Amino acid sequence: MISEAENEFLTRVGPGTPAGDLLRRYWQPVAVTADLSPEKRTKRIRVLGEDLVLYLTDENTYALVAEACAHRRVSLYYGFVEGCEIRCPYHGWKYDRTGQCLEQPFEQENRRARERARIAAYPVQAYRGIVFAYLGPGEPPVLPRWDVLDRRDGHLTLFVEEDLQCNWLQPMENAVDTVHTFWLHGHTMRMKGIDRGSYYYRPIEKYSFEQFEWGIIKRRVYRDNTGELEEETGHPLVFPNILRLPEGPLQAMHWRVPVDDEHTMLIRAGLLPDKPGEERVHDEEPSVVRVPSEMTADGDHAMNTFTSQDRMAWETQGAVYDRTKEMLGAEDKGIAMYRRLLRQQIERVQAGEDPMALIRDPAQAVVTFDVSRGQARVAVAEGRV
Ligand code: FES
Ligand SMILES: [Fe+2]
Repeated sequence: MISEAENEFLTRVGPGTPAGDLLRRYWQPVAVTADLSPEKRTKRIRVLGEDLVLYLTDENTYALVAEACAHRRVSLYYGFVEGCEIRCPYHGWKYDRTGQCLEQPFEQENRRARERARIAAYPVQAYRGIVFAYLGPGEPPVLPRWDVLDRRDGHLTLFVEEDLQCNWLQPMENAVDTVHTFWLHGHTMRMKGIDRGSYYYRPIEKYSFEQFEWGIIKRRVYRDNTGELEEETGHPLVFPNILRLPEGPLQAMHWRVPVDDEHTMLIRAGLLPDKPGEERVHDEEPSVVRVPSEMTADGDHAMNTFTSQDRMAWETQGAVYDRTKEMLGAEDKGIAMYRRLLRQQIERVQAGEDPMALIRDPAQAVVTFDVSRGQARVAVAEGRV
């Protein structure tokens, strides 16, 4: 349980909020490149409580500016892209990718007044089919080239889910909730007669959490039905809002990006590595799968996939989960560790320092995690490991 003030401190994401300022210090995925094309040049993006428009320039690059025109607040989503600039559809004010107004067709030329007409704009980079944006102050850090995206020895798929109807911290706390997999996934699948949850439907003999330079690694030891113990290679919560894990045959990364306080964008990347000895040529652009709604006609969570089960857990906690009413137990020590880490890193940002897990040296941009499932087997031990 935490106080109401602490809950606000950790969850709110708008401009000027403590957690919002922390999250703004990292490149965040805001769209997939497949969202835009020469036929569809603009996309509305709501992220961290800000209403923005992403547009595709004539040079096939991307720009991200405030949605509302400085003049009379009409949406630039309907704007005209001209070169690398965007023109408001109402009275034709034109902005460059830094948000600076360049033209006001019906105004007398008054340079001072025109220069005051600025809208917010943020740097963006497209990488492996994802558009990343930096909404923070100062010099952006280096865009991390996470192994799942950077590897070329496999086929990459991006999964875009419907926005989650709750605050971002709920899925992130789930990333360090190691024991939920038994009931929420293993048992639910068994009750539904779906043969997909048996990995999780085994006694968890031991679990642990370890802080490391990129976040928190969680580890589990299972007992399988032969009585043997299986120690999972730990998989990390990558600070502040990513989960890196093996997902069946895929090496996966899940981003949970706040749309605003009560909605969260879910983008997953999954790399299917080539089999040993099989060298295939893969498209540079990944496949994109739009995950359809997993709600029943009655508006219930279908509960027949892992994502639907997780979504049920996160959304039913409430739009912004009220942590003044919870009752944490020993099983929640990963959650307590993550909250401490969040507070600590927010305080670093407030003190004018860089938070953890930022890359400043381009030579260090490729980040590889050793994550696999059930890799290390340990001998049967007496009692608990
Ligand atoms: S509202 Fe955009 S130019 Fe007038
Ligand atoms: Fe889960």
